[in-house]
Amino acid sequence: MAEIIRQGNLFHLRNGCISYILCVMPENALAHVYFGRRLNRLDPDPVLRAAGSRDTGSFIHQECGLDRLPQEYPVYGLGDQRDGALKIDNADGTGAVDLRFERAETRHGKPALAGLPATFGETCETLTVTLADPCTGLRVELSYTVFDDCGAIARSARIVNAGAAAVTLRGAMSLALDLPDSAWDLITLSGAWARERTPYRRPLVPGHQGVSTRCGASSLQQSPFLALARPETAEEQGEALGAALVYSGNFLAQASVYQNDSTRLLLGIHDADFAWRLEPGDSFQTPEAVLVYSTEGLGGMSRAFHRLWEGHLLPRRWVNAHRPVLLNSWEAAYFDFDEDKLVSIAECAARAGVELFVMDDGWFGHRDDDTTSLGDWDVDRKKLPGGLKRLGDRIRAAGVQFGIWMEPEMVSPDSELFRAHPDWAIHIPGREGITARHQFTLDMSRGDVQDFVVDAVSRTIRDSGAAYLKWDMNRNFSNVGSSALPPDRQKELPHRYILGLYAVMERLTRAFPDLLIEGCASGGGRFDPGMLYYVPQFWCSDNTDALCRCRIQYGTSLFLPPSAMGSHLSAVPNHQTGRVTPLDTRFAVALGGCFGYELDPRKLTEEEQEQLQGQVQYAIRTEATRLHGSLYRLRSPFAGNDTAWITVSPDQTEAVVTCVRGQALANAAPPLLKLRGLDPRKDYRVLETGKTYGGEELMYSGLLCPLAQGDAASVLYTLKAEED
Ligand code: GLA
Repeated sequence: MAEIIRQGNLFHLRNGCISYILCVMPENALAHVYFGRRLNRLDPDPVLRAAGSRDTGSFIHQECGLDRLPQEYPVYGLGDQRDGALKIDNADGTGAVDLRFERAETRHGKPALAGLPATFGETCETLTVTLADPCTGLRVELSYTVFDDCGAIARSARIVNAGAAAVTLRGAMSLALDLPDSAWDLITLSGAWARERTPYRRPLVPGHQGVSTRCGASSLQQSPFLALARPETAEEQGEALGAALVYSGNFLAQASVYQNDSTRLLLGIHDADFAWRLEPGDSFQTPEAVLVYSTEGLGGMSRAFHRLWEGHLLPRRWVNAHRPVLLNSWEAAYFDFDEDKLVSIAECAARAGVELFVMDDGWFGHRDDDTTSLGDWDVDRKKLPGGLKRLGDRIRAAGVQFGIWMEPEMVSPDSELFRAHPDWAIHIPGREGITARHQFTLDMSRGDVQDFVVDAVSRTIRDSGAAYLKWDMNRNFSNVGSSALPPDRQKELPHRYILGLYAVMERLTRAFPDLLIEGCASGGGRFDPGMLYYVPQFWCSDNTDALCRCRIQYGTSLFLPPSAMGSHLSAVPNHQTGRVTPLDTRFAVALGGCFGYELDPRKLTEEEQEQLQGQVQYAIRTEATRLHGSLYRLRSPFAGNDTAWITVSPDQTEAVVTCVRGQALANAAPPLLKLRGLDPRKDYRVLETGKTYGGEELMYSGLLCPLAQGDAASVLYTLKAEED
């Protein structure tokens, strides 16, 4: 049960597994005392003395004491020499802010964040602490939510200019977390197009380390996530602390080690290229950041994230609903199709039991390649003479639902839209525009652009009767400027863009509550918790090679759940790597997320087409366990040649085990996988072999996984608990 206990000047948020404790100091500075395993009580004095104070009463005005005080929302400039959570230009041009505790309120549940995605729930408690600067009147409202059912704390800050003069915000982090030691490894996820989210782990050292993006999106290159793990922390043992930002734009995730080996985490909107003018009475709401803590290693941390997102962030309509097995036309046809070809692919897919056919890029304007027509969302009559309506009707008549691709935030220079509204693109007047994938980004901070996007998408969905939309976004910012903003607000554009995107998402998801939207950004380039508030699944990567996908999905699972990962079985040789992998392995790996196909089924042999029928049935039958069960990573593709994982249903009666070998090895013993998450008292039958084992022996001795010869061999086992 979540609860917030106030004892004198101490605030203690806790549930069954974690505690978070803050404390008001004698001069009303707000100190951070503890985040970790649940405690019954804690005397803050030893923690604060260990931070280096000789006298815990004199942090503010003696000996630059704030430099040693662990704080909740620190600011550089009045003694604290470290990077702070808040940066501001006061009316007098100085940057100091003196935040003193003013009041605190607790409430049941959790208020929404204006204009921003955030976790929600009934079974949680929220503490709001107001800090105020007596000199300028600036106020900061810190919000903390503790949930009943997962080891997570959600945090955000609202900055209010309650003074008489305008100020400029230069940075406002969503969270700062001061930790008393630095004996941690930092883990972040980095990558590139087709190689998203590789985990990197290194010990913290004095100074700054972390990841960030300034490209306008959470990006292919970095993820708005970091974890701290003790050097001895392993996959299922040891302390792990994770932090993630519920945001889709520029971010900074930084861990800094300072004197006395203290560590400060900062997570929020990147403060480079950011400024926000606050007139008297104005406020600024930061995005939300969440913290999770586990003593069950990185696996426990990931499961805490998965539980949090599934229980408190993903759209309620979709989170546990059946996700149709889809076939996407991109790798099947690219830009080369007409109505009959699409219908014939859909008919073939329908025979295999596929439930949804998605027409990808190439259906509008005169888009025969990627150089043109973004923004002109009128059907290309050369390819689809009967329009979207007739195509949608024919696809549905074939026995599958219809889905469609759009890239609504973009405009091609070669488009009617750009010719009519050149000022709708992000640009700096007087400077030549820079294209990426031959396109510009629409300025989503503008109300007229938002209206245009909502209209274009709504019309497309209505005309086609689509049940599914793939919302793509394929370039990052350059020439960052908006013709709608005055000079002193230009640096607000990156955040205003994301607010505009969220506003559009809000309008569309309200208007089309039953539309399944899958996010995409050149693959997983904006696959973050902010987007997952609106879209229940995201195309994990343009790389569909089974072995590469083992790595990408493994890394992604550090903080995002299988139910959010779009994952498709594609043709061989693979279009991204040229590798040939067995059909069974491509199937087993694609089952690691929302399963679908990315190929032309007509090109498969008859035997393969028959196999597809079995695959679709299996995917549907095991969906709940694969997507929503507890995930345990058993072998890491970054540590060796094998990747293995198991997902276990909440009642521990069903599990799906996957093991994939990279390169074939001669004379190699088959993996003996020690399973996890099973009930040791239950017996489990392996459906594929018909053999029964005790849960205990499967977990503590292991399940033998004999692999066929050849590269990329795999096994897929389904475990069913025997009736007592
Ligand atoms: C991006 C997406 C792909 C596909 C193409 C279409 O690259 O990631 O899945 O939709 O655009 O142009």
